[in-house]
Amino acid sequence: MIILGAPGAGKGTQAEMLCEKLGIPQISTGAIFRANVAEGTELGQLAQGYINQGKFVPDEITDALVKDRLHQDDTQKGFLLDGYPRTLAQVGALDEILLEQGHTLDIVIELVTDKGALVERLLKRAEIEGRADDTAEVISHRMDVYAEQTMPLSRVYEQRGVLVRVDGMGTIDEVQSRIQDAVQAL
Ligand code: AP5
Repeated sequence: MIILGAPGAGKGTQAEMLCEKLGIPQISTGAIFRANVAEGTELGQLAQGYINQGKFVPDEITDALVKDRLHQDDTQKGFLLDGYPRTLAQVGALDEILLEQGHTLDIVIELVTDKGALVERLLKRAEIEGRADDTAEVISHRMDVYAEQTMPLSRVYEQRGVLVRVDGMGTIDEVQSRIQDAVQAL
């Protein structure tokens, strides 16, 4: 499974709840990068500059990370990708990884949200968590990059017949309930 959506759409929040319910791992490229930044690893040092500016980490680095992560044993019963793929090139890379590792893509959940509300959410999170990429300037850049590079993925997965659009506005529990309905329908 894949969860798609703009910055602040609730991908991480919803992915965590769904994965707990289904007993599958949540694979969040953003969270993996941030953990590496916090630990000061070589990957973290590479990724930090991109993340802090709201730019994407280069595809080859991100694809290799996902390939390695999907190799782990806990993915055998399924997994949910949160924040990957985000470029058309990553879609192609993921297709190869899935084919190579014998996985299939069952559903792509797209959270449909309102941009104004998302900016407010992220600015609020900046006050609480102090995430380096939650400043007004970087949020605006993240939104632009999303519109330009990630939004086209929605059409690609729609054409493949695996996309389900879910209303991402409302309370966290309301959105989760819609997502679980969509997954159950599958
Ligand atoms: P990533 O961590 O994936 O950031 P993002 O896509 O910008 O998404 P966020 O984590 O900000 O938001 P979210 O949709 O997960 O929402 P959340 O649940 O947190 O990536 C960060 C960076 O890493 C990228 O910019 C890039 O540099 C790099 N990167 C990652 N993946 C990459 C890739 N594939 N290729 C290249 N580079 C990559 O919720 C947001 C806030 O809203 C929270 O405070 C939450 O509590 C709140 N909230 C959630 N739902 C609701 C609700 N229904 N009502 C009210 N508040 C809510």
